[in-house]
Order: sequence, then structure tokens, then C-alpha cells
Amino acid sequence: MGLFSSSTQTIPTSGEVPNHIAVIMDGNGRWARKRFLPRVAGHKRGVETVRDLVKQCAKLNVKFLTLFAFSSENWRRPDDEVSFLMGLFMDALKREVAKLHENNIRLVLIGDRSRFNDELVKQIKASEELTAKNTGLTLTIAANYGGRWDILQATNRMITENPSKTGPFTEEDLAPHLAMCYAPEPDLFIRTGGEKRISNFLLWQLAYTEFYFTDTLWPDFDEEAFQAAITSYQQRERRFGRTSEQLTNA
Ligand code: IPE
Ligand code: IPE
Ligand code: MG
Repeated sequence: MGLFSSSTQTIPTSGEVPNHIAVIMDGNGRWARKRFLPRVAGHKRGVETVRDLVKQCAKLNVKFLTLFAFSSENWRRPDDEVSFLMGLFMDALKREVAKLHENNIRLVLIGDRSRFNDELVKQIKASEELTAKNTGLTLTIAANYGGRWDILQATNRMITENPSKTGPFTEEDLAPHLAMCYAPEPDLFIRTGGEKRISNFLLWQLAYTEFYFTDTLWPDFDEEAFQAAITSYQQRERRFGRTSEQLTNA
């Protein structure tokens, strides 16, 4: 096993502040439509929310923040929206990476890069390399990411990298090949925009994560809304399969 243990193999310790927060940033299109603006205006505004949230997480000493920016199913959207999103991603990387680096933030991208254009792939690689040794917050952007894609690519790599090994395989065999093997499992999952589903986000890693859903649309998800999510998390009892009595007697 790598750096981090699995919640189903060992009971994790958790503190007041979540160590890893994973977010589905949803509701940009509806935010824009409410204002009679094109959907893409909501995406543009959503980038500002990302900037603020990164700051707040760094201040709170959250170690890992993972943001779902584009799902493997989002290619089904109209072509012009998809290309706007790709352009926005490229611009945001170019514009923000120096500041991330200044703030000791490590940037990592998870997802299938094979459908991105060469320029974007190069920009992603350069941004990751520049910030690779930073020791503050790890900001992971999930782009062209799907939970099923992740489990399958990990399985395939596990097999091709050890061709002589046959099953039965264990969690320890698979886990190092998952896209986010460098991070512990998320403590808190937040979805804005009112939908109550995972939409093929981190299927493996959310096994024991606390879920928080809010109707607030992503561009409106401000410091107060984030604090409400943290407060809700702090009121949860994380049992990992045990009874409440076992926790209080421990
Ligand atoms: C989330 O906002 C951003 C992406 C999926 C890229 P949406 O674009 O899904 O906004 P709604 O859900 O249509 O309001
Ligand atoms: C999930 O949002 C993906 C991202 C936020 C990137 P969607 O808006 O695509 O999810 P569905 O289609 O409503 O499930
Ligand atoms: Mg949506």
C-alpha cells in the first residue's frame, strides 16, 4: 500500500477540519439563466468561486481540495459549451498558476487527457511540474474524469504492470493505480446546485465520506455557505461501521 490507508481496511482518524474536501461544482447554468445570461456566463463566474474557495481552504489548513470541473459525460453537451469550457480551463490555468505557486499550492489534474488538445495537455503538464514540490494545499482538478473510468484504468494498469501476477487481487494491489493515489480519501463531499447524486465522480474514494448537499448554486457558494458545510461536517458522527457506544467508550 502507498502513503495512505483505506477506510475499509483501517479506521481513519478525523479531526475538526476535514483533511480532504471533494466538491461537485454544480449550478452554473441555472445561475446564469436566472439572470437572463447565457449559460457560459455562469461558468465564467464559477471560476471566481473556485479562487475564493481555494483561499478559504488554505486558510483553514485543509490539505486536499478536489474539484469536479468536467465529467466524462459532459462531452454530451452542445459543442459550443464544451469548447467554451475547454477555453476557460486553459485561460484559468495560464492566469492562476503563478499565484498558486506563490502560495505553495500543488496543482494536480486527474482525468483522461487523451481528448484534450495538445496545447491544453502541455499547459496542464507545465502547471503540474511547476507546483509539484509545493507543500501547502493540494488542489486537484478532475477534468474529463469519471469514477468508472478511474476504476477501469487502475485495473488495467495493475494487470499490465504486473503481467505475471494473477488474482485474487486486493485493495492494496489496486489502490496505487487509482488517479488520486497521492491523497487520502475525502472526509467531506459537497455538491452545490440542489441535485442529490454523485454523477460518476469519485466512486471508489467516497466509500466513507460525509455527504453535504446544498441548493446554493456554485457561483453563489461564498464563505458563509462553505462555513455551513464545515459546521455540518463537524456535527457528524463518523462510525466507519462501528456502533456509537464503541466511539464514546474509546
Ligand atoms: C456545473 O454547472 C459546471 C459543469 C458541469 C461544467 P452546470 O453547467 O451543470 O450548471 P447547471 O446544472 O446546468 O445549472
Ligand atoms: C457534474 O455536474 C459534473 C460537474 C460538476 C463537472 P452535471 O451538471 O454534469 O451533472 P448531472 O448531469 O446533472 O448529473
Ligand atoms: Mg449541472
